[in-house]
Amino acid sequence: MINTSTLLYNASNLPISSIRRSNKLNIKAVKMELTLTRPDDWHLHLRDGDLLAAVAPYSARDFGRAIVMPNLRPPITTTADAIAYRESIMKVLPADSDFNPLMTLYLTDTTSPNEIKLAKESGVVYAVKLYPAGATTNSQDGVTDLFGKCLPALQEMAEQSMPLLVHGEVTDPDVDIFDREKVFIETVLRPLIQKLPRLKVVMEHITTADAVKFIETCKEGTVAATVTPQHLVLNRNSLFQGGLQPHYYCLPVLKREIHRQTILSAVTSGSKQYFLGTDSAPHERQRKESSCGCAGIFNAPVALSLYTKIFEEAGALEKLEAFTSFNGPDFYGLPRNTSKIKLTKRPWKVPERILFPSGEIVPMFAGQMLDWKPSF
Ligand code: NCD
Ligand code: ZN
Repeated sequence: MINTSTLLYNASNLPISSIRRSNKLNIKAVKMELTLTRPDDWHLHLRDGDLLAAVAPYSARDFGRAIVMPNLRPPITTTADAIAYRESIMKVLPADSDFNPLMTLYLTDTTSPNEIKLAKESGVVYAVKLYPAGATTNSQDGVTDLFGKCLPALQEMAEQSMPLLVHGEVTDPDVDIFDREKVFIETVLRPLIQKLPRLKVVMEHITTADAVKFIETCKEGTVAATVTPQHLVLNRNSLFQGGLQPHYYCLPVLKREIHRQTILSAVTSGSKQYFLGTDSAPHERQRKESSCGCAGIFNAPVALSLYTKIFEEAGALEKLEAFTSFNGPDFYGLPRNTSKIKLTKRPWKVPERILFPSGEIVPMFAGQMLDWKPSF
């Protein structure tokens, strides 16, 4: 039995290929296969235009459904926008694709309770996303007055059982970037949950032990969290390993190793409060490798391989399916998928780049060897 739980992050922080190589002699030539209920991705950026057409097939291949983020320019703020965006997603997929994009609205200071009612009635919109203004990519239209102007919309969401998805970072430039999640929990999230205890809340892409501690104090079925592959595999050293690594830059930014370990323990514990959300966030290569690079990691092609590897190394493969395929739909009150996918343990190489008409995208772990491959 190989114990690579520390190696995953430790060996080089561009780790997986080197881990495989360094452990090669120990790997038994046993073909391992896993069958899982088809997973869903509860946090995904699909973009629009050429970029959408280039990236959507990767998610549609591995996932049955995805909660699609609304941070386009301009953002998706109405049900009518969400319906049109959903149509444009379906158009870039093969006609027989059974991928189901679950749409979201971008909460603003002017989102009305009526818009929430329309969203619920549409059967197309499944959640509303809170971006504190200025927190991340395309969040300039985000919320500035959550407890004031947004309150009527939030009350209606609680009424309609419409989850609020939270980018949990404060934007105050005086708060250290590594503390923004912790400060958000204390100054925004905890008071919000106290004020609206019936509101369903998903804390997106958690990155800290503080978030884990907080989630554990919350009511199961009312407050949950998504976790990305990068925050399970990498720590903040990876950003600077051998030079600045723009393809590991995302928001919330990678944190200390102790935080990675705490999140890893939480998701592999079997708790129903955590589920898969890749936060796959593609940007054209030039926009990442730039004097002012964008935040976001395109992990859709590798996400399922990485999650599987992580659970395997934690000795928790039997808990993987709940994280990938059960906890999310159970929280949203949706049926679990009925179809299955198979993952085979065999080496495969991540593409170096993905070309599209206006440029190229560099996937997470581009050119590296990974262990688990979804097969169809
Ligand atoms: C996301 C994006 O690029 O849209 N970037 C990221 O680093 N995760 C926005 C977000 O989810 O914060
Ligand atoms: Zn995101």
